[in-house]
Amino acid sequence: MALTVSVIGIGYLGSVHAACMADLGHTVIAVDVDAEKIAALAGGHSPIYEPGLDELLARVLPTGRLTFTTELADAAAADVHFICVGTPQREGEPAADVSAVFAVGEGLAPYLRGDALVVGKSTVPVGTAAALRARMQQRAPEGVSVRLAWNPEFLQEGHAITDTVSPNRFVYGVDPRTRDADVALLDEVYAVPLSAGMPRIVTDYATAELVKVAANAFLATKISFINAMSEVCEAAGGDVVALADAIGADERIGRAFLGAGVGFGGGCLPKDIRAFMARAGELGADQALTFLREVDAINFRRRSRMVDLAREELGGSLRDRRVTVLGAAFKPDSDDVRDSPALDVAQACRSAGAKVVVHDPKAVGTARAAHPLLECTEDLEAALRGAEIVLLLTAWRQYRDMDPGWAVTLVETPTVVDGRNALDVGSWRAAGWRYRALGRPTI
Ligand code: UDX
Repeated sequence: MALTVSVIGIGYLGSVHAACMADLGHTVIAVDVDAEKIAALAGGHSPIYEPGLDELLARVLPTGRLTFTTELADAAAADVHFICVGTPQREGEPAADVSAVFAVGEGLAPYLRGDALVVGKSTVPVGTAAALRARMQQRAPEGVSVRLAWNPEFLQEGHAITDTVSPNRFVYGVDPRTRDADVALLDEVYAVPLSAGMPRIVTDYATAELVKVAANAFLATKISFINAMSEVCEAAGGDVVALADAIGADERIGRAFLGAGVGFGGGCLPKDIRAFMARAGELGADQALTFLREVDAINFRRRSRMVDLAREELGGSLRDRRVTVLGAAFKPDSDDVRDSPALDVAQACRSAGAKVVVHDPKAVGTARAAHPLLECTEDLEAALRGAEIVLLLTAWRQYRDMDPGWAVTLVETPTVVDGRNALDVGSWRAAGWRYRALGRPTI
């Protein structure tokens, strides 16, 4: 049955969730405090770059099932309210800032109907759901008992639409007192993917909250593991890519997320592992997660190693050297530059005196906003022209497909450092390039 749902917080998660819910047939009221963002989306323009989102908006907006507002009161009619606001890292602290989750919950509480279900999707420290429910209850209308569930999202930017409508599992963290009714309502929301056989796990609030951070901690650990192997390969003259292929062939290990390079960034993995450590400390379980400090440290070392490698290739100094950085986004198919390894390396080269030009096919706007002093362009030819070294730091298809024979005619010195192990070594070398990579032998 089609429901009326509200989606509160229209960022990387919420905008995709709102459009997907409307596409599943529900009537969606999307709420955000940012009037500019709301106006853009209502006009069919996604304020973020996510493949397929503009097309999805073009499909659902004419149905009238997706409307946008800046007023929480307009969400009052919804059967289900999704909280999708961000939980960034607190300024100067490892812990997550959950103030937006509480602000939205408390703002929504006075408008709640007794039969409505509030569903948290934001990534939060364990214990937030229980605290939120208690705080909402204090502000709910007389006679209304607040119903709250936690239903973490697992979407990866760049694949967000597929990951929203067909994640590899749904997790419902529910209140035992209203368990059956809450599960039934969530099943109605996700009736289409569930009917396709998508598994769902019903659990308590704490486990559901932990599932999300545990999954991200595991992924971050896997990436840092292979990057640690990369360091050992560099010391021993081994090849981390062959090593990843070989260990990844064991299905207990798996090849996914064994991509060695400049490491992980983005709005989730880095801040989630730090917030997880901070929360474990509050709970007296800090020892259990001290290994994540090492995961974070390995990740950062890859960025500085990349700068060192560039300096080494340029004869010991970056001062006044022309460095081209390919990629600004933290990963391909996204314009998100939050904690982007690429921008970090670009900035570090610039601070060391290099003349840096950053190219990205989609993230030039966000990169300029984050680092106004960095020179950024969408023109690949202009970015490559005159380069004394090229650093590939985001594995966009455009770079992987680039003809090295064309690129070699543009640069001053044909040296490429492949920070994502994304290029075909043979064809780049055959075209005359000196090819360096993290964790691979120099030939
Ligand atoms: C992540 C989780 O994958 C997702 O389930 C969760 O909901 C949100 O956080 P996302 O941040 O979109 O998703 O990106 P992801 O694809 O996980 O990549 C994270 C970072 O790790 C990127 O910077 C990427 O370049 C890097 N990465 C990924 C590697 O360095 N090596 C790999 O093998 C894979």
